[in-house]
Amino acid sequence: MSTDKTETPTQGPRHVAVIMDGNGRWAQSRGQPRLFGHHAGVKRVKEIVRACPDYGVKYMTVFAFSTENWRRTQAEVSGLMKLFRRYIQSEARDLLAERVRVRFIGDRVKLDPKLCRVMDEIELLTSRNDRVHLTVALNYGGRDEVARATKRLAKEVAAGRLDPETVDETTLARFLDTCFLPDPDLVIRTSGEARISNFLLWQSAYAEYDFVDTLWPDFTVAEFAKVLGAFSARDRRFGAVPA
Ligand code: IPE
Ligand code: IPE
Ligand code: MG
Repeated sequence: MSTDKTETPTQGPRHVAVIMDGNGRWAQSRGQPRLFGHHAGVKRVKEIVRACPDYGVKYMTVFAFSTENWRRTQAEVSGLMKLFRRYIQSEARDLLAERVRVRFIGDRVKLDPKLCRVMDEIELLTSRNDRVHLTVALNYGGRDEVARATKRLAKEVAAGRLDPETVDETTLARFLDTCFLPDPDLVIRTSGEARISNFLLWQSAYAEYDFVDTLWPDFTVAEFAKVLGAFSARDRRFGAVPA
């Protein structure tokens, strides 16, 4: 059958998701405040997104702020929020020119309305782009996402618009923040930590993982290319036995 996923083992990943970790340690090792590392980190996002078309990566999803990151100091949280807003505004023109479609996943309820407004604006501005799909996970947590999806699904059932007997995996996936995205093929985490920290729990059921020691602000396009090459050499079986 042509839809058999085991038929395409040596292809590069179409959807790459990145847990951009290590900004704080990168800054601290230079005797700088943590926010200095976050500023250096956003520059890397731009380089990596720019490189995506060269490697056949159509979807790039980056973890920018987790539902657990509110536990950081108020200064770091507000610095990050300001950085997100400024970055979206300053990059809008380039993203449009490079035909990047930008979207956000995560719960916006806790975010500053001023930030939400620029998020809406860039989504609308880039909505016709199709060269690279950049999805930014902001106030995102995999468990939180599933809980919010379940709440929406339950409301549909309560309103009589959805028959609970018909609910299956694809039904739930339609209620997730990522309903417009294919599942990630590859999840990369930088900074040497080998955990997923609540990122894309449902969607990564069959993703390949690569944990690299490099801190995010040092993660170059060359290293990205190396990780993509290693992915292509992997044998993705999806539970089947190779023929
Ligand atoms: C990742 O870098 C960026 C965010 C979580 C916003 P960190 O800030 O977690 O950096 P480390 O892990 O403390 O070095
Ligand atoms: C994960 O990194 C979240 C982001 C990269 C935005 P953290 O630094 O928050 O994860 P933990 O706390 O080390 O698990
Ligand atoms: Mg970290």
